[in-house]
Amino acid sequence: MTEIIGRCYGETSPTKISFISKKTPAVNEYVYLEYAGKTVMGIIDNLLRGSFTLSDDLLNEDTIGKIVQIEGDNDQYIRGEVSILGDIEKLEIPRTPAPIGTTIKRATLEQLKKLFSNEKGITIGHVLSQPEVEVKLDVNKMVSRHLGILAMTGAGKSNATSVIIDELLGLGGTILVLDMHSEYGKTEFTNGKKKSIPPKINPRDLNIFEFKKLCNVSDGATNQEKYLRDAYDYAKEISLNGSEEKRLFINDMITFAETKAEELENAERKNNSHIDAVNQVAFKLEDMKRKYRSILDSTDVSDIVSTIEVGKVNIIGLSSLDEKASDILVKHVLTEILNRRKNFMTTGKGKTLSFPVFSIIEEAHILASQKRNTRSKSIIGRIAREGRKFGVGLCLVSQSPKSLDSESLSQLNNLIILRLVEPSDQAHVQKSSESLSEELLKKLPSLNVGEAVILGQMTKIPTMVKINEFKGRSIGNDLDIVSLWKSAKNEEESRLQKSEEYLDEMGL
Ligand SMILES: Nc1ncnc2c1ncn2[C@@H]1O[C@H](COP(=O)(O)OP(=O)(O)O)[C@@H](O)[C@H]1O
Ligand SMILES: [Mg+2]
Repeated sequence: MTEIIGRCYGETSPTKISFISKKTPAVNEYVYLEYAGKTVMGIIDNLLRGSFTLSDDLLNEDTIGKIVQIEGDNDQYIRGEVSILGDIEKLEIPRTPAPIGTTIKRATLEQLKKLFSNEKGITIGHVLSQPEVEVKLDVNKMVSRHLGILAMTGAGKSNATSVIIDELLGLGGTILVLDMHSEYGKTEFTNGKKKSIPPKINPRDLNIFEFKKLCNVSDGATNQEKYLRDAYDYAKEISLNGSEEKRLFINDMITFAETKAEELENAERKNNSHIDAVNQVAFKLEDMKRKYRSILDSTDVSDIVSTIEVGKVNIIGLSSLDEKASDILVKHVLTEILNRRKNFMTTGKGKTLSFPVFSIIEEAHILASQKRNTRSKSIIGRIAREGRKFGVGLCLVSQSPKSLDSESLSQLNNLIILRLVEPSDQAHVQKSSESLSEELLKKLPSLNVGEAVILGQMTKIPTMVKINEFKGRSIGNDLDIVSLWKSAKNEEESRLQKSEEYLDEMGL
């Protein structure tokens, strides 16, 4: 049975109506109105309670108490506002305002299920005000139009990310997690397999521009650049010829530079600037080898991007690396993914990647920083702008949205925003996202853990959701400090007791 909540009154507009009610509806409840041959859906976003007899200038508490005792709440009314979401079929905003007196009814379960269902969707949770209605997100829109998961620490970002990963695995999705705290490596996913990829790049797979950057050979240093290129071509040839013995690519480059230096030294006509340049190259390569040994030190490492496996969640744990090394690695991986997808979809030449990848970056504000220039910032921005065309999806997760590069943020068409209290964070997100209305913004500070506002093309309408709890996570929860202290103390006591017993036994 449909339940009448109230009736339109005052002035109405196609997007907003006021209503009066004798019932007690709740904020965020979904409602519908029938007029002009259409069923129009709306959401209650403001409620006030008032009394007909108790006027504002009645300032005596005893008198109010007495009147309320006699009248009960018969004399009270609810005044509310409904934001119109659109007609049930196409979610188009009606062209005319609702007639005054139109009844406002509570949305039925069927209507809500229709609103939040999605054939190609994954389930992320349920409508906050309606636990029996699941919320499904359109995967095609989510991956190709990118996703931002934003909230303060502890609000449930990693939980939401894990739910999404597991659901995507259920659809056979290929996911890459750039895992800053190596937390997803310990997460158990139920719908698909997990693959750990060591955070190592074989220098053989770096291109000459990456070498130039990592060696600090500046654009103006033409001689250095020339010898670096020659050294690179030399080492590349050896590696392409598939030498039997294990070789280090950078060492081959250094050998080339040193041999070249000797040659130039012994030449009849010495050219000091060239000798200097080639020595610089040898020195800079040594320096690069030492500086980046955490990510560049193996002969056996296969090309990191070609180890990404289709239909799995591929996890690169970055917690063992410092920020600079993570930055270089992420830049390399993302650049290669985009280039190979481009190659695959256009010429088919060069290295290719035959399946779309959804890349998730935790702590995204570190690499895609608003203020600082990092190496990976430009490729993150580029994927945000162009990735859609090549099936390269991006998910940026951040606890500090105000530090997140606004250019990338503005390209994230879909957002899941959990509890977010700081006004500067809210303002930064609102500036970059057209679809985050004042009304939704006001809801952000009062959300509980796991509750979120979701918006963007992946959902038909912006919605408040309770995100499902993901069961397979072993970290992320706050540590139980008290019991850790207690057990450490117990251990220490039993150790002391044992050593005392030992001394006793020995008669000491
Ligand atoms: N949707 C949810 N339902 C129930 N508990 C949740 C939910 N989201 C998060 N939590 C709990 O809140 C804590 C913090 O969540 P987490 O995802 O690690 O936050 P964040 O990544 O934003 O710091 C975890 O202990 C987790 O179990
Ligand atoms: Mg987290």
